[in-house]
Amino acid sequence: MSQTFYITTPIYYVNDVPHIGHAYTTVAADVLARYCRLTGRDVLFLTGLDEHGQKVQQAAAKSGVDPQAHCDRLAPQFQNLWKKLHISNDAFIRTTDARHKTIVQQKLQQLFDQKLIYRAAYTGWYCTFDERFWTEKDVVRQGSPQVEQWLCPDCKRPVERLSESNYFFKMGQYQDRLVAHIESHPDFVRPESRRNEVLGFLKTHPLGDLSISRPKSRLTWGIELPFDRDYVTYVWFDALVNYISGPDYLLPKPSLAHYWPANMHLVGKDILTTHAVYWSTMLMALEMPLPQTIFAHGWWTVNGEKMSKSRGNVVDPYAMVDEFGADAFRYFLLREVPFGHDGDFSQTALIGRINSDLANGLGNLLSRTLTMIERFAEGRIPERGTAQYERLEETIKGEAESRLLVSDQLLSSLHFKENLESLWWIIALCDQLIDEAQPWNLAKKPEARPKLNNVLNTLAKALRYLCVFIYPYMPQAAEEMKHQLGLMLNFSKPLLAGEFTWDGLLPGTPIAKGKSLFPRIETIVPKGGARVTDTQPPTPPTAQAGPAAAPVGSTTQITIEDFQKVQLRVAKVLTAERVPKSEKLIKLQVDLGTEQRQIVAGIGKKYAPEELIGRRIVIVANLKPAKLMGVESQGMVLAAGDAEVKELVCLMSDVDPGTKVK
Ligand code: MSP
Repeated sequence: MSQTFYITTPIYYVNDVPHIGHAYTTVAADVLARYCRLTGRDVLFLTGLDEHGQKVQQAAAKSGVDPQAHCDRLAPQFQNLWKKLHISNDAFIRTTDARHKTIVQQKLQQLFDQKLIYRAAYTGWYCTFDERFWTEKDVVRQGSPQVEQWLCPDCKRPVERLSESNYFFKMGQYQDRLVAHIESHPDFVRPESRRNEVLGFLKTHPLGDLSISRPKSRLTWGIELPFDRDYVTYVWFDALVNYISGPDYLLPKPSLAHYWPANMHLVGKDILTTHAVYWSTMLMALEMPLPQTIFAHGWWTVNGEKMSKSRGNVVDPYAMVDEFGADAFRYFLLREVPFGHDGDFSQTALIGRINSDLANGLGNLLSRTLTMIERFAEGRIPERGTAQYERLEETIKGEAESRLLVSDQLLSSLHFKENLESLWWIIALCDQLIDEAQPWNLAKKPEARPKLNNVLNTLAKALRYLCVFIYPYMPQAAEEMKHQLGLMLNFSKPLLAGEFTWDGLLPGTPIAKGKSLFPRIETIVPKGGARVTDTQPPTPPTAQAGPAAAPVGSTTQITIEDFQKVQLRVAKVLTAERVPKSEKLIKLQVDLGTEQRQIVAGIGKKYAPEELIGRRIVIVANLKPAKLMGVESQGMVLAAGDAEVKELVCLMSDVDPGTKVK
């Protein structure tokens, strides 16, 4: 029996159409689910909708329809989006489903019978928006003594004084057990910073009991309490139960015992407490094991601002997919920011990623390789010329072969960004192999045929590896790569369960070069704005023959426009070697994000080539190419010093190659 892997997203409120935040968690869960299926795990991926509660009732009232009709109208907006984004969820839950409601009522009755739910009168400050009471200590006082107002500490909206009888779940009695569980299970709340937050809170605040009912006089849109018809269930009690009701009734046969406890609840940082505290204590009371991990991810801002309807800056995932494609959007969401951190969304950043990583990186490598196989190997993956791998080929093979382990570690800790970076490192190495080996020159010499075949064979094998590991992130692109490379891969089977090897490529297979994987996006016209192009300004003709350098302390001034003519960029040194017969010159191959460059620098007296590899330096990227001792230099490195170089200008941490320096 294969190992199970149960992963969930939050169930989303149907008070409005889906936005980037919903897409983010769902895409992340999908990547993990697809990866786990490839490794042979028996995956259950559940997502769905939270259809009860005040927010939904209010949204329905606003559109003048009854709440169920409102939910039925909005549900397809989510379901269709998941189709468009190629989300591979195994089940989709809606909390208005009668079977879910029955399970919620069973759980309530169970806790009530066990005397873990009791009735009590309560007076407190009620926030309608957050649907919860706050204590005297919590609320924020505002205004003058004459006109006082109390605000919700969370959403900052006015709260009202309410006194009512409600049913309470004895959450407080589980406080110590919960602290002990979090302390003894380091993976229970992730990332570490969030775990510390939850622990810090639980250790310094007494955990109260949780009101799990709302009187029908105030809210009707909810699941009726089985033991008191005047009340409906608090929406969070109802919603959290989805994680156990879903596997119970949505699959062909009841599978809760098979999949529970969940391996991964993915949630946004704002709903971590409800999961880590409410849900965990509910499970303790229900005598069920706790999930393995609750992972809280960060939030997206948009162009540096909080996303909100009133600001009109809500990112519509439908529009993103229509304009840029599902794969590019999926890639961007997980590549741009480390999972767990907040990030900023901008269309410019998305286009930048598409052009540099997808079009110039992955797409270009595939198309270059296939063109060379067409031209130099009659359109079939060539057999190796020799069994031996040369240095760079060996590195590529080693990197690819270690991918299974690396990906497993990175994915199980949800390091999507780092995982993608490590895959893109293989792409950079392949580009370097092409540039160094120059297959087009090898093709001119019959004696170089074995070497040419080796290079093409290594590139095809590397692309096969990339195809498999990129698949969870960009399933369509992987299918297309697979087709163009003529690969015999079936992504619906557990490919990574042991039989996948570097040598599994069948030489002789015909390739089928097709459309470009990711076309470059040349220009965009933002709403009402000026035309933005992503092409670089033309190289100023006088870049090299400019005025003589001014001495330090000179008062010669330049304008900002003069300075902006110089394009400074971060470059990562890929290789470094001495220029033969020169004491001073070192030839560098550098990664500039979108391209690779060769730069010859007079730094050989100060540095040995090996100490330069991997460094992030700054180069002048728009300097006219020049030849130094017969070797072409396509840029210049920045270094301190006059006649003698004292120190290269380096960056203290890993900034992406290609980043502008200004
Ligand atoms: N219905 C509850 C969840 C119940 S789970 C048992 C809920 N729904 S929600 O629709 O309001 O939010 C769902 C998710 O979207 C949350 O995880 C939240 O963190 C996430 N996001 C909302 N805005 C976001 C961003 N701007 N950025 C990233 N995620 C954000 O809460």
